[in-house]
Amino acid sequence: MSDKIAILQLPGQEPVELPIHKGSAGNDVIDIRSLGQSGYFTYDPGFLATASCESAITYIDGEKGILLHRGYAIDELADKSDYLEVCYLLLNGKLPSADEFAKFKHTVLHHTMLHEQLVAFYRGFRRDSHPMAIMVGVVGALSAFYHDSLDVANESCREIAAFRLISKVPTLAAMSYKYSVGQPFMYPDNTLSYAGNFLKMMFGIPCEEYVVNPVLESAMDKILILHADHEQNASTSTVRLAGSSGANPFACIAAGIASLWGPAHGGANEACLEMLEEIGTVDRIPEFVAKAKDKNDPFRLMGFGHRVYKNHDPRATVMRKTCHEVLEELNIDDPLLDVAMELERIALEDPYFIEKKLYPNVDFYSGIVLRAMGIPRTMFTVIFAVSRTIGWISHWKEMLDQPGQKIGRPRQLYTGQTDLKYPEK
Ligand code: SDX
Repeated sequence: MSDKIAILQLPGQEPVELPIHKGSAGNDVIDIRSLGQSGYFTYDPGFLATASCESAITYIDGEKGILLHRGYAIDELADKSDYLEVCYLLLNGKLPSADEFAKFKHTVLHHTMLHEQLVAFYRGFRRDSHPMAIMVGVVGALSAFYHDSLDVANESCREIAAFRLISKVPTLAAMSYKYSVGQPFMYPDNTLSYAGNFLKMMFGIPCEEYVVNPVLESAMDKILILHADHEQNASTSTVRLAGSSGANPFACIAAGIASLWGPAHGGANEACLEMLEEIGTVDRIPEFVAKAKDKNDPFRLMGFGHRVYKNHDPRATVMRKTCHEVLEELNIDDPLLDVAMELERIALEDPYFIEKKLYPNVDFYSGIVLRAMGIPRTMFTVIFAVSRTIGWISHWKEMLDQPGQKIGRPRQLYTGQTDLKYPEK
């Protein structure tokens, strides 16, 4: 913490001294917790300049396009680590020793099955349900089955709940896809990697052996690494707020899935593909770029812009490389990629996008890679949720481990009616 002080001069009051805290990187913060005593609140809808917590998990430098997980750069982790090791790192704050990782991996791979009764939940959904609608339901339903890991005050309950979520969310996700195509559910295969097991549960069928394609397995693992965590984004803040009331971890993660679904957040990769399909051909790009610039048109270029990155999204750089690797491996000549590349080129040269610092974000390329891998568009955000589950759990755990943790309860600027009298009858 820092010993600097901010002085706030309020009308008719003595100057208010507000402590300034310094982190290990990024902006210092002004501690306004005592401000209420002066009769004022701060006002920051959308939290453009508000730190909601203290965290040591992930750091983003939006100007420099830097993303660190527990101090390690995302491009290094994508290149040298794998998703399960990144899960260990995010959750425990350090890279595991060989023994620690072997134990962690064994635990995760031996919690992948579901309570067989939970499978019955799927039968209650319409076949054309969006998989995210199913995921919000079945992840929340885990709290109806795993009663021995609901006590958030108990550290061992928190630990087993974390393992169950990391292990079971991919199984639930693959089942939401299988249900939508009317194919039988595939049981997890504990002999495979985390990414390989997910691909087999998605695309394997009981009547023949499924051989994992190593290029697709590596691409899926990279997609999972790149989406694992991202500071206090909307869905992570949702999980923290839900968890601050003492809600059980399965309910909190279901709340995070609900928030991620929005097209301005995790739903952007699905919306980006829809946009590329609507554009259709390179010659129609100028028409859509003009719509994106039109203040009176709500249309936005999905996959562009970010609240924090005002330079390139380092995840997009890795994802772009993965995208070309997958398309080359599968020998796919996707006209939508041609539209995407031309849209990227035009947007990066257009004064509007340069001035507003709207660069392609991770969702711009992830949709194209997932499409190339044969994953239906409605599953894109589900896969984002599979990956982000570790980020949500890590922040939930960090919050509960912090001494003096309080329920989140923002205040407001009230602009409604006052002093109305109920009419005499
Ligand atoms: C994710 O927070 C995270 O970390 C999220 C995430 C994660 O890993 O958790 O990174 C994942 O959600 C990535 C973002 C995916 N969303 C999209 O691709 C949807 C399209 N992008 C926009 O909706 C928008 O850029 C946001 C929501 C991402 C960011 O919006 P902000 O920071 O609230 O910025 P803004 O909406 O105030 O826009 C600033 C200006 C506006 O113009 P002015 O009103 O100042 O004139 O830029 C314009 C906007 O109109 N603008 C766009 C635009 N994004 C912003 N114009 C056209 N196309 C766009 N995509």
